[in-house]
Amino acid sequence: MNELKFFQNIAHLNKRFWVSLNPEQLPEEDLDWVRFQLSENEFAYWERLPLADQSHSFQVAKQTQSLIGGQEKSFIAAALLHDIGKLESGFGTFGRVFATVFCFFYPPTRMEKWQERDKGLRRRLVDYSNHPSIGAKLLNDLDSQQETIAWVLEHHSEKENWVTPKEIGEALSSADND
Ligand SMILES: [Fe+2]
Ligand SMILES: [Fe+2]
Repeated sequence: MNELKFFQNIAHLNKRFWVSLNPEQLPEEDLDWVRFQLSENEFAYWERLPLADQSHSFQVAKQTQSLIGGQEKSFIAAALLHDIGKLESGFGTFGRVFATVFCFFYPPTRMEKWQERDKGLRRRLVDYSNHPSIGAKLLNDLDSQQETIAWVLEHHSEKENWVTPKEIGEALSSADND
């Protein structure tokens, strides 16, 4: 993660932090819209996200839809599921702020040896920093569409390395950092 990305991430988290202190369940019609965009299996996982994340991913998906249109359902699913890999780390609101700052300053090479741990804070930090690949693997197991999996995997990567078409990736990215 470069510095610009880091500060974007902090600004994004800061905004989400205040919203997530008082999360509310999305109204039924919004939940129906989400259900329509996802497969049954994807929706079952999406429903396990904390309410604040459900609401954030809904906003990202709606904003993406307004930017690219509703034809590309696999990319709307990508917007809804971009952080699904964070389910594994189980961090709450405060834990995420801590994990983001920690993952920026702590050398990834030193975190590598924590991969072998099967529980505890260090294991959760590794999972948090690996949330794109954990999410992509999960979606692969659920037979999600390739475009959805690709964006989940690369949503924190540099633009030059995207498999996702640039204009769609830019729409997804700007909706996420809005
Ligand atoms: Fe993410
Ligand atoms: Fe996000």
